[in-house]
Amino acid sequence: MDHDHGLPPHYEPEDLVPLSAHGIPVLNGEQFLRREAADRLAELLADAAAAGEELVVASGYRSFGEQQRTHARWTALYGEGAGGMSAVPGHSEHQLGTAVDFTNAAAGYELWWPFGDTTASAWLEENAHRYGFILSYPRGREEETGYNWEPWHYRYIGVENARELRESGLSLQAFLQQNGVIPHC
Ligand code: DAL
Ligand code: ZN
Repeated sequence: MDHDHGLPPHYEPEDLVPLSAHGIPVLNGEQFLRREAADRLAELLADAAAAGEELVVASGYRSFGEQQRTHARWTALYGEGAGGMSAVPGHSEHQLGTAVDFTNAAAGYELWWPFGDTTASAWLEENAHRYGFILSYPRGREEETGYNWEPWHYRYIGVENARELRESGLSLQAFLQQNGVIPHC
């Protein structure tokens, strides 16, 4: 899911589950993820909490319509620049039901770059892959991912894939191309 690969407007995963029922702290009302991602996320958050790190989920699944509204807000604020911060509807990993945005008290419960300076963010960078989550838009990879650094945005790709991706040192886009999952553009 990126600038070049999209989903149809009606696509909605069939196994979305509410995160609060998994004991996962959420903001902005209830948040949903696909079942397997939610199960692994609950483990991740329990271990992060045991390590003294607070992480709260500010957004999970977003429908095409919700992404339309989100993207319109970003475009109203930033014009053309919004393209590097907010996916156009049909191109957001959030529509897959496997992407999650984290925040915490140290970041003022906002989704913004200061989250990247928190110890919870450092814990995620070190450990998220053990639960199958990867940082979708790393710093210094803007050319490859097409998006600005988003230290708060993680995507579940499965534990084995996340381990292989980390070992490869590639961005997810390059990794998927190398494995023939998406064509070279
Ligand atoms: N902020 C990410 C790129 C999204 O809109 O899905
Ligand atoms: Zn996000």
